[in-house]
Amino acid sequence: MGNVETFIFICFCSWSLAGVFGVEVKSVSVMEGDSVTLNIDDTHIQKDDQIMWRFGQNNSLIAHINRKINKSTVHNDSADGRFRDRLQLDNQTGSLIITNIRTTHSGLYKVFSKTETPLNIFNLTVYACLPVPIISRDCASSSPSSSSSQQNCSLLCSVVNVGHVTLSWYKGNSLLSSISESDLSISLSLPLEVEYQDNNTYSCVLNNPISNQTQHLDITQLCHTCAGTSTSYSLS
Ligand SMILES: *[C@@H]1O[C@H](CO)[C@@H](O)[C@H](O)[C@H]1NC(C)=O
Ligand SMILES: *[C@@H]1O[C@H](CO)[C@@H](O)[C@H](O)[C@H]1NC(C)=O
Ligand SMILES: *[C@@H]1O[C@H](CO)[C@@H](O)[C@H](O)[C@H]1NC(C)=O
Ligand SMILES: *[C@@H]1O[C@H](CO)[C@@H](O)[C@H](O)[C@H]1NC(C)=O
Ligand SMILES: *[C@@H]1O[C@H](CO)[C@@H](O)[C@H](O)[C@H]1NC(C)=O
Ligand SMILES: *[C@@H]1O[C@H](CO)[C@@H](O)[C@H](O)[C@H]1NC(C)=O
Ligand SMILES: *[C@@H]1O[C@H](CO)[C@@H](O)[C@H](O)[C@H]1NC(C)=O
Ligand SMILES: *[C@@H]1O[C@H](CO)[C@@H](O)[C@H](O)[C@H]1NC(C)=O
Repeated sequence: MGNVETFIFICFCSWSLAGVFGVEVKSVSVMEGDSVTLNIDDTHIQKDDQIMWRFGQNNSLIAHINRKINKSTVHNDSADGRFRDRLQLDNQTGSLIITNIRTTHSGLYKVFSKTETPLNIFNLTVYACLPVPIISRDCASSSPSSSSSQQNCSLLCSVVNVGHVTLSWYKGNSLLSSISESDLSISLSLPLEVEYQDNNTYSCVLNNPISNQTQHLDITQLCHTCAGTSTSYSLS
């Protein structure tokens, strides 16, 4: 008897956890400019009479399917108009399609039907397109009086206006150094000192969790001269 009671207790417990807290948050990562489809996988939810998509902290209603009156609507002006002309609804599955996505579309997307608790939650992260990092000679650090200036060349790898990125120097395939930044819109630079005679291949890599950009170092070209201010070059 004791076993049966325990069994029932456990079942009740996990049922209420699923009902109250159990909505799984599905993470979705995309690059700026891409399109994304937020799919409702649950076929019961897909067939509900009413499907509402809400976005962000204000739970703004951005899309709505009402099957009782065969109506599906996208609300272009909600959430400060940031979704204008970018939303589509698949009225069969209830899936929400966001086209030409921007970083301002990052956030939580919740699917509601008739209940007050969301049936699905998507955490969308939009990553900005990354620039190619710029390698420049750091002439200030290789002044003629410095003892290292005879054999060594000081370099800086830099990027501007980036966020949630890591900037790294590689020698061949091995990581030499790196710097990370989680803020938005900042500038980063990372130094490297090489000998003029160095035959290794060096590269500077900028990456976020889903993409990267690489600039290769050409020592012969870049360390050739330090004419006044720093010279820079870019492959692009
Ligand atoms: C909704 O549309 C379907 C076909 O697309 C039709 O069969 C049905 O009668 C419509 N219902 C209403 C309430 O208009
Ligand atoms: C779904 O889309 C089809 C074709 O675009 C349309 O005929 C139908 O009425 C729509 N149904 C609802 C519920 O919006
Ligand atoms: C939420 O509402 C506030 C005040 O109305 C507004 O400033 C903010 O932009 C809204 N946020 C979203 C994501 O809609
Ligand atoms: C909202 O955007 C959709 C999709 O681009 C468009 O078809 C619709 O006409 C727009 N509605 C309004 C009120 O601007
Ligand atoms: C959503 O994803 C971002 C970035 O991956 C994360 O920092 C944040 O904590 C997530 N939010 C929720 C509610 O899961
Ligand atoms: C020159 O650079 C090499 C390689 O980075 C370093 O090991 C060495 O200490 C430097 N020499 C001087 C004099 O700073
Ligand atoms: C670089 O390569 C040249 C010719 O291949 C060689 O003479 C030189 O010693 C090498 N330098 C170093 C630092 O390995
Ligand atoms: C850069 O991205 C490519 C795929 O796009 C991957 O193969 C490579 O390992 C990445 N490099 C770094 C340093 O993250």
